[in-house]
Amino acid sequence: MIRKCLFPAAGYGTRFLPMTKAIPKEMLPILTKPLIQYGVEEAMGAGMNTMAMITGRGKQAIANHFDVSYELEHQIQGTEKEKMLADIRDIIDNCTFSYTRQAFMGGLGHAILTGETLIGNEPFAVVLADDLCINDDDGVLSQMVKLYNEYQCSIVAIEEIDPSQTNKYGIVSGVEITDGVYRVDTMIEKPLPADAPSNLAIIGRYILTPDIFDILSQTAPGKGGEIQITDALMTQARMGNVIAYKFRGKRYDCGSIDGYVQATVALYEKSK
Ligand code: G1P
Repeated sequence: MIRKCLFPAAGYGTRFLPMTKAIPKEMLPILTKPLIQYGVEEAMGAGMNTMAMITGRGKQAIANHFDVSYELEHQIQGTEKEKMLADIRDIIDNCTFSYTRQAFMGGLGHAILTGETLIGNEPFAVVLADDLCINDDDGVLSQMVKLYNEYQCSIVAIEEIDPSQTNKYGIVSGVEITDGVYRVDTMIEKPLPADAPSNLAIIGRYILTPDIFDILSQTAPGKGGEIQITDALMTQARMGNVIAYKFRGKRYDCGSIDGYVQATVALYEKSK
């Protein structure tokens, strides 16, 4: 059973400056909810109730959001507006949040390793809140949990991308074992198109087995001089222990202005 979900949320969000000077990028609104709340709701929908946040300096708004706000709630109690807090109350009532800070930017692998004390020795999910996934049925993490129950190994969510874009993603290749499910044999972080083994790109949803922490602690800096989760996963893949899964749903890259606006429009249309 997967109970815990890790949210690396220490990045600066420079693509959204000056908006992200004082507001964490994870708190940017998509309609009436901050980006990270969508990720937490997806994790909850997949049966997880323990949220582990890797934050950094200036990210206090995240912890404040996932906590009660007595004055505000008292003020609107019994009014029409109270129902606007229903979803966040449901999260607060049913989940535990814990936080640790990444003192310096050492890469996604380093952020995940920083979460070891919050996760311990059990399989866990990772959500990169920038990648907002919208589904009509099961969320992406729910789909991946079902797969985990079958394969009991690390899983990455993938999608096909334009081959010219491989230098923005971790790229995988492998053998398709059933429809849309691959046993991974190669993983490369942000290869140039000429070096990419395929156009199958990792998006920000992972299920990881806890041996990843030991592997990460022994993984040398890779692309960009940072500790890459893609490299650590390649160590597991060599033992046949990584599955890549073409998820159902639509992903928006809310780390970019284009994706952020598209996600906003899509959810606005859906809400009408
Ligand atoms: C990270 C990972 C990359 C993955 C991507 C998904 O990169 O390192 O392998 O494809 O997330 O969003 P980042 O976007 O943080 O540079």
